[in-house]
Amino acid sequence: MKKFPADFYFGASTSSHQVEGGCFNDWSEWEKLNAERLASESVKFSNLQSWSRIEFDASDPANYISGVAVDHFNRYTEDLDIAEKIGINSYRFSIEWARIEPARGVWDQDQLNHYSKMIGAMRERNIEPFVTVWHWTLPLWLSEIGGVTHADFPGLFARFAAKLAEEFSGKVKYFITINEPEIYSLNSYLVGVWPPQKKGLISYKRSINSLIKSHILAYDEIKKRIPDSVVGPACNMLNFEPAKGIVNRFLTLFAERYWNRYFLDRIKSKTDYIGVNYYFHNRIHYGFNKNENKLSSDLGWELFPQGIEQVLNNLKDYNLPVYITENGLADERDEHRAWFIEVTLRSIMKSMENGVNVKGYFHWSLIDNFEWDKGFWPRFGLIAVDRKDLTRKIRVVSCGRYREIIEKGI
Ligand code: FCB
Repeated sequence: MKKFPADFYFGASTSSHQVEGGCFNDWSEWEKLNAERLASESVKFSNLQSWSRIEFDASDPANYISGVAVDHFNRYTEDLDIAEKIGINSYRFSIEWARIEPARGVWDQDQLNHYSKMIGAMRERNIEPFVTVWHWTLPLWLSEIGGVTHADFPGLFARFAAKLAEEFSGKVKYFITINEPEIYSLNSYLVGVWPPQKKGLISYKRSINSLIKSHILAYDEIKKRIPDSVVGPACNMLNFEPAKGIVNRFLTLFAERYWNRYFLDRIKSKTDYIGVNYYFHNRIHYGFNKNENKLSSDLGWELFPQGIEQVLNNLKDYNLPVYITENGLADERDEHRAWFIEVTLRSIMKSMENGVNVKGYFHWSLIDNFEWDKGFWPRFGLIAVDRKDLTRKIRVVSCGRYREIIEKGI
């Protein structure tokens, strides 16, 4: 049995739009226009093993409207009570920009107070808050002028981050500036499946470069106001593995450089740590992903938790602390989650023994939530939510195992 360091953060994550309910932003508007279409397109999931269970929800347009979500905005104390029972000592959550700045340059103090109260509730339970400044949703006024690719975006983002730092000074130490700049740029500006549904290499580049600039500006603004803060991004990182042959090895190196390092290489002097969101393994076979998919989640994503070890080892040369800011699986029946957490944490331990300075692990998610364009059917939560009455129930098998590892090690 190996123990994690005493100051290791064991946590769980959420994001505002996915859990709070009552969000009014570019996504909530997009949902209204696209729910019917998303429901009718859900047949594309009919080859999933989970299809018979998910079909009913996936083909219902109501599934694609975030609406009340899981009402975390009003029920956060109940959720934090459960988090405490699970045994976690940290919670990553995001601030809903549209609540704080409902019109350009106009700040809503009541909404800021709400988050301060939430942070207070974490402190009362000895749960360290990890604040995500931005997890993809935009106030309408900002999306209307062009969102992330508008020339003003980095400045507006930095001003928002500065406002949060002022407000949370003395209350929050850990900040995550931007969640998965690569995934956001890919889905919103390259393949165009998320709002604002732009398609093209030029808009993709514009988006990712704007987010690089935004991170750098926000980093400085937060550090200016809270000098001992710990600030970094949460990057989506893949475990790339070459199939046989030199071409595949070369392509793997290219994929690794481009996907895992493009953003990071450009901000590495302006970050205190690397945040890693790990979900995917890609076996590169002449440019295609040839996973064996022996085991997969309800979403059909291959379960390959051990891949995190390689991802972490590859970050060694940055010589920065690392936090696993997200990692998890859609597993409604809690069949694989305990095993998944165990293998992930064992792999993290191995990379730590290999010299990677991993400081924390945040499971995605604390609670079942609204999974963007897939809606409510994928169940990522350590806590299950009954969609009829929003009652919460711990997923006992996986939470039991998580708790055991937190207490005893792996
Ligand atoms: C990540 C997102 C998070 C959640 C998980 C499943 O890419 O950051 O909001 O949707 O995937």
